[in-house]
Amino acid sequence: MLKYVVTGGRQLHGDVAIGGAKNAAVAIIPAALMASEPCVIENVPRINDVTVMLEIIRELGAKVRLIGKNTIEIDPRGVKNVSPSYELVRKTRAGYYILGVQLGMYGSSIVSMPGGCDIGVRAIDQHIKGFNALGAEVKVESGFIHAASAAGKLHPAHIYLDQPSVGATVNIILAAVLAEGQTIIENVAKEPHIVDLANFLNTMGANIRGAGTDVIKIQGVKRLGGCTYSIIPDQIEAGTFISAVTATGGEITLRGVIPKHLECITAKFQEMGVEFFDDPNDPDAIVCRAEHRPMRTNIKTLPYPGFPTDMQAVTTAALCTASGASMVSETIFENRFRYVEELKRMGAQIQVEGKVAVVEGVDRLTGAPVRACDLRAGAALMVAALGADGVTEIEGVNFIERGYEDFPGKLGGLGANIKVLTVPDVETAEVG
Ligand code: EPU
Repeated sequence: MLKYVVTGGRQLHGDVAIGGAKNAAVAIIPAALMASEPCVIENVPRINDVTVMLEIIRELGAKVRLIGKNTIEIDPRGVKNVSPSYELVRKTRAGYYILGVQLGMYGSSIVSMPGGCDIGVRAIDQHIKGFNALGAEVKVESGFIHAASAAGKLHPAHIYLDQPSVGATVNIILAAVLAEGQTIIENVAKEPHIVDLANFLNTMGANIRGAGTDVIKIQGVKRLGGCTYSIIPDQIEAGTFISAVTATGGEITLRGVIPKHLECITAKFQEMGVEFFDDPNDPDAIVCRAEHRPMRTNIKTLPYPGFPTDMQAVTTAALCTASGASMVSETIFENRFRYVEELKRMGAQIQVEGKVAVVEGVDRLTGAPVRACDLRAGAALMVAALGADGVTEIEGVNFIERGYEDFPGKLGGLGANIKVLTVPDVETAEVG
């Protein structure tokens, strides 16, 4: 068990390299099982959710070879239609992408109900609706999702999602990519990681058009081959560093980003007084300068290209010391304000009423012992701690490590003072 000890109040300055996108990686890694040859995947973030996905595909028979720090080769030639173990799937939301993969490859799949951050109900009805339309019957029994097509393979379909779910869009693409004929999915998610998955599959030989728009058209192909592919940069990791410099003040350059993917985030931080510039020598960089106390603003989370729900907590943390009151509306998940109680320990003044939080900006936050309850909650505590007076001890950093590669190291490179300590796991110690 680790904890981060952050001595706050230091401005951030310097360059930080943004890693590959978590939510693209956890879809692309299982998609590689559908190839008939090895795939080399670059810019893979070294985070715990990726480690779990790699363990899952190994369990199914894939060979995974680390070629470089962030490059892996996946050889799927030994893969069999077996169920991934409950212990692994419960550790990550993306474990259920194996359903789409196996349905597409074999016409049947059994996968336990997935885990992931506890941020709301996280229904899977749209995944099931898509699988049903493609010809699979789906039952949920004793904690497992059983999906199978009586014909032994899926057929194409025209599917209209009730809401633009990221997970359902990914799973339906995976299931349909080998189904003979044309599948049309309407009202799909348009996040950059959806486009990245489609680009990866197309590089393998798939025929997917429209990713990034509301309608995706998939012409089923007979086989997918191997390829080399580089995962897009993580817009939420980049946005988290923007939140951090907003809270501390300073000037940082985010390297290895796609500035277009950040517009839904930078537009909001500009309202808060943060300035953004291009780097004339590097088209993949964006410079963020925060010279003044953040200004208040209102936020409403929406599917892409709206303001991302995954940015909600870290932005709220930066708004805690804004001049004036801000209103934060969370429209995607029901339970994404659990971190607020921890921010209050640091002196934040926030009232939550249902899916809305009102943040009354205070002059300074003060360090306190706090605990992360999910990935973005942990990142929010880090943002708050960096801007706060005194020392903040953050527990539950295993949540942070699910989605941020070397977060303390990267922040340390920008001048933050963070110590990573090992703490005894009291519960385990007692049991042992
Ligand atoms: N929903 C349904 N039925 C479904 C599927 C979704 O009602 O069948 C609802 C959900 O309950 C939620 C909304 O639709 O209210 C959006 O859910 P979505 O399916 O888009 O989310 P997800 O696929 O479960 C992914 C990311 C999340 C991110 C959301 C929204 C992965 C592995 N996870 O979750 O990432 O918050 O999209 O952008 O891609 C994170 O990185 O911290 C994280 C939680």
